[in-house]
Amino acid sequence: MGAIFQSLGRTVTAGVVILVVIALIAGTHGKMMEHAWWAFFFRWLHVLSGVMWIGLLWYFNFVQTPSMPKIPDEQKPAISKVIAPTALFWFRWAAMATLVTGLILAWMNGYIGKALAFSSKDHYAIGLGMWIAVIMWFNVWFIIWPNQKKALGIVQVSPEDKAAAAKMAGMTSRINTMLSIPMLFCMVAQQNGGL
Ligand code: HEM
Repeated sequence: MGAIFQSLGRTVTAGVVILVVIALIAGTHGKMMEHAWWAFFFRWLHVLSGVMWIGLLWYFNFVQTPSMPKIPDEQKPAISKVIAPTALFWFRWAAMATLVTGLILAWMNGYIGKALAFSSKDHYAIGLGMWIAVIMWFNVWFIIWPNQKKALGIVQVSPEDKAAAAKMAGMTSRINTMLSIPMLFCMVAQQNGGL
């Protein structure tokens, strides 16, 4: 048993095995030919990746950034050279997975066009949620990550450019934290009466 929890891969696999057992007992496999089941499956994948993305965003904003001034200079490379690059890897790919699964879900639900165009009152909530989340995804891939590469020394730049990049990445990360609050409200509002 202990061997499972000594490896992240085995731990995640164990989670999937528990899920399969639950699905078999609940008879979920009998519904797998239905469109509604696959839409549900993508909803689950979407929430799973969304939790990874926003969890790491909140880790950066609630834990890592406020802790940095309290860490002695000689220990800071542990964060900038080891922890932050790994966290940023999962962060940006979770953002990508959340976007892709969210768009597939909206398409499977049959409202992707009208929600994004705000042409149906019934889909204002998810339309707004999707637009806010797409802006957040853009910020991750086109502002935060390119600037973090400079700030963490993955891309070599002058000390002035490094400081400017760190400031820009930090500010955009704060903007995404702010946007995550209404975004998540809109995501869950759609199934619960809309806006
Ligand atoms: C990146 C762009 C995103 C798109 C295109 C998108 C799309 C969607 C769609 C289409 C739904 C289904 C709404 C419904 O009909 O009930 C949904 C629900 C949801 N999304 Fe997103 N989403 C995105 C980002 C996020 C993020 C970042 C999170 C963060 C955790 C998130 C969490 C959720 C949750 C919790 C639900 C509700 C699930 C439920 O009520 O069963 N989404 N999203």
